[in-house]
Amino acid sequence: MSAEVRVECVDKKQSVFDVLEYLQHKIREQDILHRKDSGQGEATIHIHTDKPFAVAFSADWHLGSAGVDYATFLDHVRLILETPNLFVGTVGDLVDNFVKSRMKSAMLHALFGPQEQYDVVREIFRMLGDKMLWHADGNHDAWTEDESGVNVLGMMLSEAVANVPYLPYGGGINLVVNDGKVVYRIFAKHKYRFNSSFNATHGNKRMHELESPYDVGVTAHTHNPSVEHTHRWNGVYGKDIIHIVCGTYKVSDPYAAANGYGQSSWIAVPVVVFYPDEKRMIPFYHLEDAVEILKGWS
Ligand SMILES: [Fe+2]
Ligand SMILES: [Fe+2]
Repeated sequence: MSAEVRVECVDKKQSVFDVLEYLQHKIREQDILHRKDSGQGEATIHIHTDKPFAVAFSADWHLGSAGVDYATFLDHVRLILETPNLFVGTVGDLVDNFVKSRMKSAMLHALFGPQEQYDVVREIFRMLGDKMLWHADGNHDAWTEDESGVNVLGMMLSEAVANVPYLPYGGGINLVVNDGKVVYRIFAKHKYRFNSSFNATHGNKRMHELESPYDVGVTAHTHNPSVEHTHRWNGVYGKDIIHIVCGTYKVSDPYAAANGYGQSSWIAVPVVVFYPDEKRMIPFYHLEDAVEILKGWS
């Protein structure tokens, strides 16, 4: 007769996973995070005025780089602050921010580092205040979040100018004038595909077809500014459109020099004047030219 040995764990913990409860919890968490996120892809801005107003499209400040023309940058900030009815929308790369380890050389040659780069942007945002209509991020702005998961510029924007819409990936801005008498559709993205070295606004034209039938389409990133006032469609759909590529203040760029781009970086802050009683737009390639006209009207 063989002895029988019985082994039994009397308190084995069994896994209980209520998948429905789990996913409902995650859905609530998504909602909380969505409400916390200040980023948006569409913004509506109401403007009440009986005079033409203007928007400057400013990008690629690259603050911190030793190659930036800081005197012109400050002069442009002053002009925007001093000129009545002139507003500004920013389109990314405001900080140089070479925080990626493979870009160590660019960081080592910076005039000042990321802390002061962000400090300067925050103070410029505060100075611009109500003049700012929106901010869209560029790839240099996003590198801090890429490396650390922390969105510094987004946090600073809401701290410095609480009512300015934040478009992390760019997007649509509807300027609603005098309660809808005229609506101008702007579509702004720091980078877009289909860039051409031979046709500066080629990416904008594809963006117009694939993203949004805008009145004014704005890109940046290439540091090769351009303004093109043209038209699209016929009959009742026919309208004027303006393609804009922003310039930069980073006029000396070792990357461009080393990679055969030559003098590919130019200072230009394009401006569009918008009329309030009829759909009419006048673009300017240089901020200074627009300011001269706007001062004459005020
Ligand atoms: Fe840039
Ligand atoms: Fe860029």
